[in-house]
Amino acid sequence: ESDQAGALVLFGVTGDLARKMLLPALYHLTADSRLDLPIIGVAKTDLDLDGLREHAREACGGVSDAAFEKLAGNLRLVAGDYRDPGTFARVREEVEGKGFLVHYLATPPSLFSAVAEGLAGAGLNKDARLVVEKPFGNDLASARSLNGELLQFFDEDHLRRVDHFLGKEPVEDLMVFRFANTLLEPIWNRAHIRSVQITMAEDFDVRDRGAFYDANGTIRDVVQNHLLQLLAILAMDPPPSTDARAQLDEKWRVLRAVQAVTPADVVRGQYDGYLSTDGVRPGSTTETYVALRAYIDNWRWAGVPWCIRSGKAMPTTDLEIVAELRRPPVTMFGNGGAPDSPNLVRFRLQPDAGVTFDLLAKEPGKQHTRPVPVSVDFTKVLGPMEAAYERILTDALSGDARRFARFDLVEESWRIVQPVLDLADRPLPYEKGSWGPEPAADIPPGGWHEISTTFD
Ligand code: BG6
Repeated sequence: ESDQAGALVLFGVTGDLARKMLLPALYHLTADSRLDLPIIGVAKTDLDLDGLREHAREACGGVSDAAFEKLAGNLRLVAGDYRDPGTFARVREEVEGKGFLVHYLATPPSLFSAVAEGLAGAGLNKDARLVVEKPFGNDLASARSLNGELLQFFDEDHLRRVDHFLGKEPVEDLMVFRFANTLLEPIWNRAHIRSVQITMAEDFDVRDRGAFYDANGTIRDVVQNHLLQLLAILAMDPPPSTDARAQLDEKWRVLRAVQAVTPADVVRGQYDGYLSTDGVRPGSTTETYVALRAYIDNWRWAGVPWCIRSGKAMPTTDLEIVAELRRPPVTMFGNGGAPDSPNLVRFRLQPDAGVTFDLLAKEPGKQHTRPVPVSVDFTKVLGPMEAAYERILTDALSGDARRFARFDLVEESWRIVQPVLDLADRPLPYEKGSWGPEPAADIPPGGWHEISTTFD
């Protein structure tokens, strides 16, 4: 199902996500001549339409060019409560005759069901798609019940669950790099890969998001969604085609094979000082760091640890995947004191994007054949990268389902992390600016490989 939208209804238009991400993305798409349609902002707000336009201008960096004027001209405002049927009646007046509708819910998740119901009450769920932001549920049971509530008003074909990582161009390139080349795929399995390490580090703390973060923690905030999506893209079999269903089916097949993580394979951490953050509950056991090992029970990956770590207040801000290859079966070059480095394939996603192969070559200019490490670096010449939310919004409007999380994938990823969510023990303390609690070092066999920016 892929109807092109005739109007966008944006719930939460005055909220944080709209200000930081959605309004700037709508502006860039307008400036690029890729967007020109009525945008009905909905919010519980005292602003009038002029006020909303000024708010949008600020959100877009104070611009006053023709593109912004065009966007502002497309903006409408319905101010009202999401539990008041009158609000939806007014939305209905605004969208009358506009064709297919896309309702984008940039609201707290606690309002998703109420908005879906309100839309249905005004008949606005016909010829319409519903797009919801993360988090989708708080655990497996709540995700299922939220989904059940939404399905009363919109069927799966007309539902889109946002995971903005899927809008990142370097994430999509993982799939192209894997399946457009013949170099990698023959070795991309348990026979040749010893471990895969996924690191998402952020060098800032929870900042002003204490209350939000404390209710979630690292596993819910980024592992269940973003990082398991990365795992799925990296570990899946080649889809038979590029269509949405084929890709989503392969991701589902591999997530289906991932064992639920056992508590022995997890280290949770909390940085020193977290408990004095505004909005954090006294004595909170929410983690700000996690390192875990997951195993995929299929022929390609059985026995290979997939290690995932993520944390706030880390030494750097980086997103990198390192696959460690097994050593050669014999060490014919003796190695006489040379480093015994394994071959590594590094997918660098942020802050810069690229692929690096860490290999061994002969030490130059010497009689002996001692191997030394060399890095072969493909820094991507992708040109300016399109921002994740521009891609997400474009797909939300066109109906392309590839860059969204289908419910069966969401369900599997909650299942995978559920035993870790159930842990009520106190996370281990770590110092801000460190790589997390010490025992996390033992999660991958042989330890974590340094990530690229640390040795740049
Ligand atoms: C969000 C999380 O989903 O992703 C944040 O809630 C995190 O905690 C963010 O910082 C990271 O996304 P990006 O695109 O800035 O790497």
